[in-house]
Amino acid sequence: MSVTSLSSLATLLNHQIRLAARPVGLPRPTDWSHTTEAVAEPVQGGVVLKTLALSLDPAMRGWMNEGKSYIPPVAIGEVMRAGGVGVVIASRNDRFAVGDSVSAGLGVQEYLTLNADEIERSGLVKIDLRTGTLTQWLNVLGMPGMTGYFGLMDVGQPQPGETVVVSGAAGAVGQTVGQMARIKGCRVVGIAGGAAKCDWVVKELGFDACIDYKAGPGAVRAGLKEHCPKGVDIYFDNVGGDILDDVLAKINRKARIIICGAISQYNNTTAVQGPKNYLSLLVNRARMEGIVVFDYAERYHLAVAEMALYLKEGRMKSKEDVVAGLEKFPETLLKLFNGENFGKLVLEVATR
Ligand SMILES: NC(=O)c1ccc[n+]([C@@H]2O[C@H](COP(=O)([O-])OP(=O)(O)OC[C@H]3O[C@@H](n4cnc5c(N)ncnc54)[C@H](OP(=O)(O)O)[C@@H]3O)[C@@H](O)[C@H]2O)c1
Repeated sequence: MSVTSLSSLATLLNHQIRLAARPVGLPRPTDWSHTTEAVAEPVQGGVVLKTLALSLDPAMRGWMNEGKSYIPPVAIGEVMRAGGVGVVIASRNDRFAVGDSVSAGLGVQEYLTLNADEIERSGLVKIDLRTGTLTQWLNVLGMPGMTGYFGLMDVGQPQPGETVVVSGAAGAVGQTVGQMARIKGCRVVGIAGGAAKCDWVVKELGFDACIDYKAGPGAVRAGLKEHCPKGVDIYFDNVGGDILDDVLAKINRKARIIICGAISQYNNTTAVQGPKNYLSLLVNRARMEGIVVFDYAERYHLAVAEMALYLKEGRMKSKEDVVAGLEKFPETLLKLFNGENFGKLVLEVATR
């Protein structure tokens, strides 16, 4: 059992960001409240964690809405839910020692005190910084990487020579999907916003091509025609909307479409736009399947081991976009929805 001096814990203040109102459209500054609390001491079996960096995810927008989903909404007044990486600063639990690097559902706050039950619920696990950096543990080795890996490998089941298209290609999930598909011997075509992101996925990540969907009307259709001459066998969809329809029009017989997300629809104030070209699934005997990353938790370690090796060998890269400062959370989250993030969006909260 290791315990940081409890008197030093008592001097710490925990700055937090809470959900104040359910947004309509894009979240506004008034949808958040900023609070400060003392850091609670750990009970027997508990720990105190210090947040070092938080994962900013498009899913956060969904968690702010009322209604049924794969996870309950964040309640009004609750600390905003967020995954993150941190360090144990006090422990009354034999499994965790002061100084351990960990990953957990930390919330948008500087410290988190957990009892034994909450440790299980928060998904607290140790992470090894020899395997990957802190920010890589939020990216390729973290939740987005697991999403890309299992969505592609389990649902997509890529075969060498097949054509894989991935939207949100320069983002957290997209970079893992494209690089894994390339390693598995596929032709990989990304879709991303802007020339800089498209250049990067081709030149740095080794995609075969990338379509800039912001290049003008018809850019995706024209790009698919040019870069997918044999059609599309797997489409990993991160964005939904019109791009999904354009890809549906190019799929091959027995194509697999992985519905990972639909970021183009998350801030809608009207109904979600569904696919118009869905009869292409019938004609092509194709299937569309949703994925929720948490279903694969028991197998994360296998994906981490495989992709850590690729990172070490230089066969895979991991790009993060790091913004510093807990108080910058509200404005930083918006970068996901206007495409300002370049790589996995991370909020650095503290240094060790
Ligand atoms: N199902 C699951 O378990 C699971 C888990 C993790 C993530 N996801 C989903 O996976 C997707 C990607 O997440 P991520 O964490 O990797 O985010 P990300 O790609 O790192 O960041 C979001 C990107 O989405 C693109 N985007 C924003 N608005 C768009 C629009 N209207 N049309 C097209 N693209 C738009 C932007 O890139 P451009 O500059 O290229 O436009 C932006 O950089 C999201 O839909 C997320 O909800 C699902």
